[in-house]
Amino acid sequence: MMTKFMEWQDSYATGIDAIDADHKKLFAAVNALHDARDIDAGNAYFADLFAMLSDYVDTHFAREEELMRGLGYPELDAHIVSHRELATTVQQYAKLYRDDPGAVSRDEVLRFLGNWLSKHIMVSDMDYVPYVQTAQEAAAQGKVTAA
Ligand SMILES: [Fe+2]
Ligand SMILES: [Fe+2]
Repeated sequence: MMTKFMEWQDSYATGIDAIDADHKKLFAAVNALHDARDIDAGNAYFADLFAMLSDYVDTHFAREEELMRGLGYPELDAHIVSHRELATTVQQYAKLYRDDPGAVSRDEVLRFLGNWLSKHIMVSDMDYVPYVQTAQEAAAQGKVTAA
């Protein structure tokens, strides 16, 4: 069996269902781009896939930022900056490939995306997970007290 470009591993799991589902979707979107990387340079398909990734990225970042805001996560601002940088880059690539499908090495862009995603999840996203757990424990405690 051919291995995927972005292979999901348990170590990527935050344990937060909506976030993990988003991350898997992002992996799938990058894999779709990887599968399409050899398609003829004049084909708009690659640009369309990039636009789809851009949508997924925006949706996920919005969800994650709302979650972090609700937690009072202290590194929220830096995390948002990191999100904005990637979202802008993805938007730029989507437009670039729309205008000139051969403009930038697809392999290079895919490598960048893959590295960014795995590193961001493992380092930046994992950093807010303990705050989610603390909030869940506090909520559970609250229920016990109220009973
Ligand atoms: Fe993030
Ligand atoms: Fe994330």
